Amino acid sequence: MSRAQFATRLGVIATTVGSAVGLGNIWRFPYETGVHGGAAFLLLDLFFIFIIGVPVVCAEFIIGRHTGSNIRGAFRMLAPRQAWGWVSYIGITASVLILSFYSVVAGWTMHYTVKSVAGFSDNTSTEALHAQFDSFASGNILPMLWTLAFLAINYLILSRGVQKGIERMSNILMPILFAILLLFTVNSLMMPGAKEGLMFLFSPDFSAITPSVVLGAMGQAFFSLSLGLGCLITYSSYFKSDTPLLRTALITAGLDTFVAILAGMIIFPAVFTFGQQPEAGPKLVFEVLPSIFADMAGGVVWSTLFFLLLFLASLTSTISMAEITIAYLCEEFRMTRRGATALSIGVAMILGSLCALSFGVLGDMKVFGLTLFNLFDYTSSNILLPIGGMIISLFVGWKLDRSVVISELSAGGGRATKFATRIVIFCLRWLAPVCIAMVFIFGLNIF
Ligand code: PFF
Repeated sequence: MSRAQFATRLGVIATTVGSAVGLGNIWRFPYETGVHGGAAFLLLDLFFIFIIGVPVVCAEFIIGRHTGSNIRGAFRMLAPRQAWGWVSYIGITASVLILSFYSVVAGWTMHYTVKSVAGFSDNTSTEALHAQFDSFASGNILPMLWTLAFLAINYLILSRGVQKGIERMSNILMPILFAILLLFTVNSLMMPGAKEGLMFLFSPDFSAITPSVVLGAMGQAFFSLSLGLGCLITYSSYFKSDTPLLRTALITAGLDTFVAILAGMIIFPAVFTFGQQPEAGPKLVFEVLPSIFADMAGGVVWSTLFFLLLFLASLTSTISMAEITIAYLCEEFRMTRRGATALSIGVAMILGSLCALSFGVLGDMKVFGLTLFNLFDYTSSNILLPIGGMIISLFVGWKLDRSVVISELSAGGGRATKFATRIVIFCLRWLAPVCIAMVFIFGLNIF
């Protein structure tokens, strides 16, 4: 059976950047930056994205393109009957967990898109919006239905296949997303609080850096780049043999960072203009922004566009998470694409519903003191992704034939120079594993 490939270079960029750019950039990055004091967090994030992230993205690309296989098949080919293959199960588990809780937040964005069109209630004080958000999120049926609706849309796209579904969708959605973002940035920069907002985002206060800020920044970098769970192995298995890997990794990291910074440039000027607190946390987007939109001319339009943007960005990310399992089921168990999609999305629907309910009736069901939603988030982001990333980095740095690494990195016209290749290999052998191990140890508070 001939294997699917992305048809164009643009398709490669749109799908890969589409995976990276998501709630991680527009929802998580601004609130993490707000909570951790602004520019210092941003600088750390940049360090982790470009020094650790880019080499590990290259490692996933090398494995995926070289084997042209799903995550399990890839390790079976490269290290038959060896323990390395276990990393594929870590990746599959992480992808199912992330897809489940992420779809809940994506469902919220759909609800808020519709709510924006219908108009928020007259009382748009932060307190009233807080109460509205709480009563919606803990309302059981509605959030669960939105989660299921969001996953159903994923099914419709994914069951159409790699080129007709994923690539076509990303080619359409990504330019729309960038256009909406730029529009918002211009609008925010014209606000009276723009200067204060930009100062918060760009002038670092190094005294704000603590170990937990460093850990947060590293976790953010991993999550944001879709790294450590084989998502990029799966996508790069659809790359052509002349797709330049290092360049694609750099473009992905560059655009991913660019979107996160734009999101910051949109949100912080607005926060300062309307006298809100940048440390509002996860609710920053759902509670603070609607009150800001309410005070703006054309607020309904801005608000609708914003939540639509969040929804679209989530969609191009969740299809990449689900594709990990779909490719695995199709190739390892010879399932049909439709069957594999139905199974993957079906499991996410069950787990996602439970996550949605963990804000309501299942709120008291706690494992290790965490609700299901928080447990899925914590286990995947703080445990599974770092372990996965470390194993992938060690595998390509130490185990994989050096000639494979060099030939994959220099394919596509030898754009990656010898020097760059050496740097990538050094990072994979030493820098990335050591840093990731440290994050893991401190993140879990092992000592
Ligand atoms: N990178 C996505 C974001 O920033 O929203 C999240 C994500 C996508 C994580 C795909 C993992 C993944 F496989």
